[in-house]
Amino acid sequence: MSTIFSGVQPSGEMTIGNYIGAMRRFVTYQDTHNCLFCVVNQHAITVPQKPDELKQSARKLAALYMAIGIDPKKATIFIQSEVRAHAALAWIMTCLSSMGELERMTQYKDKSQQHGKNETIPAGLFVYPPLMAADILLYQTTHVPVGDDQKQHLELTRDLAARFNARYGETFSIPEPLIAKSGARIMSLQTPTKKMSKSDPNNAATIFLLEDLAKTKKKIMRAQTDSDGIVRFDIENKPGISNLMTLRAALTNETMDTMTAAYDGKGYGDFKKDLAEIITETLAPLQEEHKKLMDDPIVDTVLNEGAEKAHALAEQTLKKVEGKMGLSR
Ligand code: TYM
Repeated sequence: MSTIFSGVQPSGEMTIGNYIGAMRRFVTYQDTHNCLFCVVNQHAITVPQKPDELKQSARKLAALYMAIGIDPKKATIFIQSEVRAHAALAWIMTCLSSMGELERMTQYKDKSQQHGKNETIPAGLFVYPPLMAADILLYQTTHVPVGDDQKQHLELTRDLAARFNARYGETFSIPEPLIAKSGARIMSLQTPTKKMSKSDPNNAATIFLLEDLAKTKKKIMRAQTDSDGIVRFDIENKPGISNLMTLRAALTNETMDTMTAAYDGKGYGDFKKDLAEIITETLAPLQEEHKKLMDDPIVDTVLNEGAEKAHALAEQTLKKVEGKMGLSR
């Protein structure tokens, strides 16, 4: 049976990009695959975090996994730092990687550029991809549902798995990325040529899953569009409305042509109003469920059991790896 693994960082608030590009797709695999969904808090510390906030965010994200419909009876939900094998295999993956291939990671290039000087770039940002490879490879993962921005990290994971297998003998499954055809890259509402991101300093650019829905509505009404006023999908020339159409298509399954026909003769205002309604209908029940779960000790029970299950599986792989490399007696 194939195994699905994916992770989300508990840094800041989750966005509708995280939801559409990754999280809600997790739910679709739980009936047919072995699934593990991880709160990757060790990835979050590649940049400084406030301890209390990080702790809260991890639990909040676990509750969100459950609120969107991941059933802990079917899938394993756990926190990365509670399964020691992640950091242990990450070190091995780091030793298997070269400086050159890590320097080529575009996410590293983007994030390190924000620091300017080499002197202040956290080394954790540089060795982040080998930790991600370890997450995936520990569980003999065959498929990894992610958004488009993780594609390069997945390619590195595949390379590292193949390199290990070639050097030490068949050990890891080579995982395939599962990237959706539509919705794998939800764009900023304010600069629709840029990815929607939880760390965008412009709050109006991002829809947060747990924000006040009156705010969400305002953000959609103010989203950047072009001046020709025609609802038509054209990423190159009309990135703003195309992004809003992508959001709507992801939530209603309508085609772009259906939307164009439905808004013939109407303006962007009508489209935005309807989209705000659709998003509200999607997020309201999710927020309600999340609120209930935050006060429910079930989240901790799920996380305890999840860590135990994940630990048992991860240790099997780690022992095998250490044995093959001569890291055992
Ligand atoms: P993270 O926490 O940045 O994002 C979680 C997931 O959401 C997707 N995503 C998006 N999809 C569509 N449009 C967007 N605007 C958008 N923004 C984010 C991401 O592609 C991701 O799937 N390195 C990973 C976390 C990670 C991981 C793993 C993932 C660590 N270990 C192992 C898979 C397997 C990250 O930072 O995702």
